[in-house]
Amino acid sequence: MKAVIVGTGYVGLTTGVALAYLGHEVSCLDVIEDKIKMLKAGKSPIYEHGLEELMELAKPNLQYTSSYEEAGIEEADVVFISVGTPQNPDGTPNLEYVKQAAISIGQHLGTKFTVIVNKSTVPIGSGNWVSSLVRDAMTQVDGLKPEDRFAMASNPEFLREGTALHDTLYPDRIVVGAEEEQALTVLTSLYRPILNQDFPALEFLPRPEGFGAVPIVTADLASAELIKYAANAFLSVKISYINEVAQLAEKVGADIMQIARGIGLDTRIGSRFLSAGIGWGGSCFGKDTAALITTAEEYRLPMSIVKSARDVNYQQRVWVVEKLLNELKILKGRTIAILGLAFKAQTDDLRDAPALDIAKHLMQRGAKVKAHDPVALAHARKYFGDSGIHFMDSVEEVLQEADAVVLVTEWPEYRKLDWENLKVHMKTPLLLDGRNFLTPSVVEQSGLKYIGVGRGHAKKG
Ligand code: UGA
Repeated sequence: MKAVIVGTGYVGLTTGVALAYLGHEVSCLDVIEDKIKMLKAGKSPIYEHGLEELMELAKPNLQYTSSYEEAGIEEADVVFISVGTPQNPDGTPNLEYVKQAAISIGQHLGTKFTVIVNKSTVPIGSGNWVSSLVRDAMTQVDGLKPEDRFAMASNPEFLREGTALHDTLYPDRIVVGAEEEQALTVLTSLYRPILNQDFPALEFLPRPEGFGAVPIVTADLASAELIKYAANAFLSVKISYINEVAQLAEKVGADIMQIARGIGLDTRIGSRFLSAGIGWGGSCFGKDTAALITTAEEYRLPMSIVKSARDVNYQQRVWVVEKLLNELKILKGRTIAILGLAFKAQTDDLRDAPALDIAKHLMQRGAKVKAHDPVALAHARKYFGDSGIHFMDSVEEVLQEADAVVLVTEWPEYRKLDWENLKVHMKTPLLLDGRNFLTPSVVEQSGLKYIGVGRGHAKKG
């Protein structure tokens, strides 16, 4: 089948490359010409495991362009809208790029039946809105009736940064929302290789053991749109819940690691997304929980659980500062080292990254902040160069003269650090493990004081 993907961010590019690998003919379209240049040169503008390798393998089925004419929308079976929806200051998503994409698609549709799919996370009701923009644009261009030439669908994405291709090829489910049967039929055939899992798996993207057919959830448009928000909000609530229990665990002398295991083995709860720490960040949870709350407000619903999850989450970042203050008594003039800037490991994404907020709070208290990240440093220097944070190229440099070190991102290389030798660079041997990532006893045997999150009874660790 022929698919056009508008927007080459995490979602768009991963979807396009995966569909091309599965044998579809794919055009990836982006109005940012520099991105298209990079893609044409075989380079991915995002840091994502396996993406450049798969781009190479799927090359014969892939085209990159910044022109709607060249993308071949008039022959497309499916056009995905996967442009950015950044957050407005009032918490609502900015839909300007979605609007521009919808109008341009409408202007270029042909007489062939095409399914237009919202893959960007858009507010509930956006399906209808996009449909009307496309309709108006079509009528203005050729005066022909838009009926029967296109149908709208919502196909929310559940991929995680860092494992985007794996999540696309081996998803827990595929959700498709549409009002017309024909749209569901087209999308079911597009995703058939993933649903049936009959495509050859790759060495660098192996199929998980025992992984079988993937369920498809068909829904109406509004339900599909709400599924996306409800899923992200649920995961955010789950993480904030374990973080709130972690605060109590610390007070009563209990260990959150044992508690998470003890509750997670209950299959009704599940063990994933129960890692306590400095909380969630990234481009999705913060934005989507804010958008869900603003949508609910339009209907006078308080969405109080999601609001509390947000409060707990952002309080975790302040907790780091309070903890350091408690240990060091004075933060003014202190040097604090931060290990990890990306909002999680395996990505260079700095959006809503806890590290940046923690650094800001520390600097407001008069501390000097130095930071290291094995992957995100270049991005950090570019976007936060004038923030006052001192970006360092090595762990040794970041620890130099530090009064404390805070581990913020769980990069595997940080687990291998030799604290025995590293602590000599520090002024005070104090480590706050914001991800409960290191083994407390190992750190303490190296002569550092270890503080974890919710580890009131972690000495034996
Ligand atoms: C999230 C969802 O997991 C995806 O399903 C969804 O498609 C995506 O948002 C999106 O809407 O685009 P992502 O933001 O890439 O994916 O990252 P996650 O792996 O979900 O992690 C989010 C944050 O939660 C990270 O800061 C991570 O460190 C934190 N986290 C995760 C915890 O603090 N504890 C956990 O147990 C799990």
